[in-house]
Amino acid sequence: MLKIVSARDYDDMSRKAANIISAQVILKPDTVLGLATGSTPIGAYRQLIDWYKKGDVDFSQVRTYNLDEYRGLGHDDPQSYHYFMRDNFFDHINIDLNNTHVPDGANPDAEAACAEYDKMVADAGYPDLQLLGIGNNGHIGFNEPDDHFSKGTHCVDLTESTIKANSRLFEREEDVPRQAYTMGVQTIMYARMILVVANGAAKAQAVHDMCFGPVTPQCPASILQLHPNVVLVADKEALSLCE
Ligand code: F6R
Repeated sequence: MLKIVSARDYDDMSRKAANIISAQVILKPDTVLGLATGSTPIGAYRQLIDWYKKGDVDFSQVRTYNLDEYRGLGHDDPQSYHYFMRDNFFDHINIDLNNTHVPDGANPDAEAACAEYDKMVADAGYPDLQLLGIGNNGHIGFNEPDDHFSKGTHCVDLTESTIKANSRLFEREEDVPRQAYTMGVQTIMYARMILVVANGAAKAQAVHDMCFGPVTPQCPASILQLHPNVVLVADKEALSLCE
């Protein structure tokens, strides 16, 4: 069920992940992609941009739905995930920006923003392929360790560990928003294929628990053991506790 692909290093992980995504888009040009932000997928996005520029992959019919967005950040805020996606991917390929979707962090009405996003993802028929990173604590999207698995898009309070991990991208730790809108675990599980990318020793415990630990909301990624089509592409360091 859960296939593990071992990569030599970050670049190898990125190319292998990009290969899987581009094969999906070549086979189904109007693919619905679920996308992630964070440091891990940047190399895969770069590789896809490169192949697009060489004429090998065409995004003109692709639709995308991102996992999450900080609550309270406008779409043009350089720290927002809207901005991140344009900067690292969308502005460099031939995707129609009207076909790209990220939860609306600028909408202070959390209930409305989340319900609207759930409806959009459902109307699109859910992702054919969902790309995921994994948090050091096993989170997926911003679904943090909890005593239950979440369902649809919802507003979350970020944990101290996630705020600390994400503060590297902000000038000061106080600047990291304390809340986010995130797709729920149930929505993530509706994707027909899930591609998880992970690199570095800091992810080793989470990667081990995701693949071999008990299925528990204390490690949200562990639910992926119950999905019929998951591929993990990880470098040696991230896989170091899996041998
Ligand atoms: C990002 C997201 C997060 C990250 C995770 C890992 O959209 O949903 O779950 O995938 O925090 O982040 P990095 O890749 O920065 O280690």
